[in-house]
Amino acid sequence: MNAAKELSRSLWMEHRINHQGPPLAGDLTTEVLVIGAGIAGLSCAYELVRSGHQVAVVDRGALGGGMTARTSAHLAFELDDFFEELRSLRGEDACRQYYESQCAAVDRIEEICREEAIDCDFARIDGYFVPAEGRDVDYLRKELDAAHAAGFADAEWVAAGPGFWSSGPALRFPRQGRFHPLKYLDGLVRSLERHGAALYPETPIVGLEEKDGRVDAVTGAGRTIRAAQVVVATNSPFHLRIPIHTKQAPYRTYVIAGPVPRGAAPDALIWDTLEPAYHYVRIQPGAEADTLIVGGEDHKTGEADDMDERLGRLEAWTRERFPELGPIGHKWSGQVFEPSDYAPFLGRSPGHDQVYLITGDSGEGLTTGVAGALMIRELIDEGGSRWSGVYDPDRLMLRGAVEFVKENADAARHWAAHLGSAEVGSLDAIPPGEGGLVKLDGKMTAAYRNGDGDLKLLSASCTHMGCVVRWNRFERCWDCPCHGSHFSVDGEPLQGPAFKPLAKVAP
Ligand SMILES: Cc1cc2nc3c(=O)[nH]c(=O)nc-3n(C[C@H](O)[C@H](O)[C@H](O)COP(=O)(O)OP(=O)(O)OC[C@H]3O[C@@H](n4cnc5c(N)ncnc54)[C@H](O)[C@@H]3O)c2cc1C
Ligand code: FES
Repeated sequence: MNAAKELSRSLWMEHRINHQGPPLAGDLTTEVLVIGAGIAGLSCAYELVRSGHQVAVVDRGALGGGMTARTSAHLAFELDDFFEELRSLRGEDACRQYYESQCAAVDRIEEICREEAIDCDFARIDGYFVPAEGRDVDYLRKELDAAHAAGFADAEWVAAGPGFWSSGPALRFPRQGRFHPLKYLDGLVRSLERHGAALYPETPIVGLEEKDGRVDAVTGAGRTIRAAQVVVATNSPFHLRIPIHTKQAPYRTYVIAGPVPRGAAPDALIWDTLEPAYHYVRIQPGAEADTLIVGGEDHKTGEADDMDERLGRLEAWTRERFPELGPIGHKWSGQVFEPSDYAPFLGRSPGHDQVYLITGDSGEGLTTGVAGALMIRELIDEGGSRWSGVYDPDRLMLRGAVEFVKENADAARHWAAHLGSAEVGSLDAIPPGEGGLVKLDGKMTAAYRNGDGDLKLLSASCTHMGCVVRWNRFERCWDCPCHGSHFSVDGEPLQGPAFKPLAKVAP
């Protein structure tokens, strides 16, 4: 099970990944084990198998059923947290490495599409930063300077942005990309099978131990996979309790998609400068109409209960700018992790020699996932990577200290919620199809009533580190605000870092 079991359906999920393989049925020995079959894991498996390694990939749910199925699929090497911010926190070298690695990631996706004949609507298009308000224009000037310093030599100031934004200045970033993420993963899966990798869906890993020069991974069914190297590409690493999770914060973000006449919206990536959550816009071209895809309205996971209002605002914002927009066909949400010093964690897992990880995706996890795959191939084959300076998971985060302290104070508050009052006074107050927190025998309990009126009662204590989970009425699941775990109404983990189910509570 994974986030594919959350309620909303993205535009991409209309395409199913064609893989009929069964879960792992016995023990297995392999040279490299990749855990997680999203863009990060499948890209890593691809790099390693093409480099001559024996590779097995496992996923606890459907292949490609994680956050990659919920993305908006901009392939950008402009930094969504801004080069200007990264430069002031971590210096120009970090910006240069970021730029170079993200360019390499988009190049690599394009190359793989060509070499493996993957038809996934990949196209190079322009990206634009547009000011959300007049006062942001000055900030764009600083960002352009920082992007040039990072190596983005042909980023440029334009007097008019695309489409609706033609009345004001913008920054233009050439050579960005877009694709259909699940068609791409489908193509990768077929290529991996052709190149001899083994793929096992519905095979959760619940334990990982590095010892005596090897790594043993234990599956939920009690099987052991023995490997020389393991890549944890589970979006949020399940095998570490603390080191990474205190350095990144989970955010829910929302997307709507609907038809527009062909050519009514520009074929470009557009991001505005709105704070705290920017809008992101692109189209998916179609034969008769294009589909306009607009995202935004982010909030910290578990800290909002007004999804209908957020989606309503997103639609109103879009209709104001694109009056030709037809009925909204898809509304969905997903989660991203925001690292407190603006760069993801890609490379050797802290405290390990033979375990690697990819996490801290921010809104650019497709390209950072592919950059991570390139890096891990280098680390395994060559012992080092050109980009470790900016992405090393073990780096000191001193310069992101203010954000770090704030995020961790939030986690303490969510843990302390066990001691606070319940959201609903009694189980009777929970209508069918809804969930809420109640106190039963003095313990915070996550209660959900299904359409037949039956109650499902679970401990509200997240199995990662014990914070109180919150009801997500849009996705009909339990979200942990501390480090971003999600659980089904039956308590099964859908998104890490938690990998154990919520404890059942007797009625
Ligand atoms: C709404 C939205 C819009 C976005 N827009 C963009 C964008 O425009 N551009 C961009 O670059 N990025 C974007 N992102 C971010 C990007 O989509 C994600 O960062 C990226 O897809 C994550 O890929 P992944 O492979 O790390 O994780 P996933 O796709 O989540 O894959 C991880 C896999 O690991 C599996 N797994 C987890 N735990 C275990 C375990 N214990 N055992 C076995 N398997 C396990 C899961 O089942 C899952 O399939 C967006 C994200 C969202 C939610
Ligand atoms: S995700 Fe860490 S406590 Fe829930």
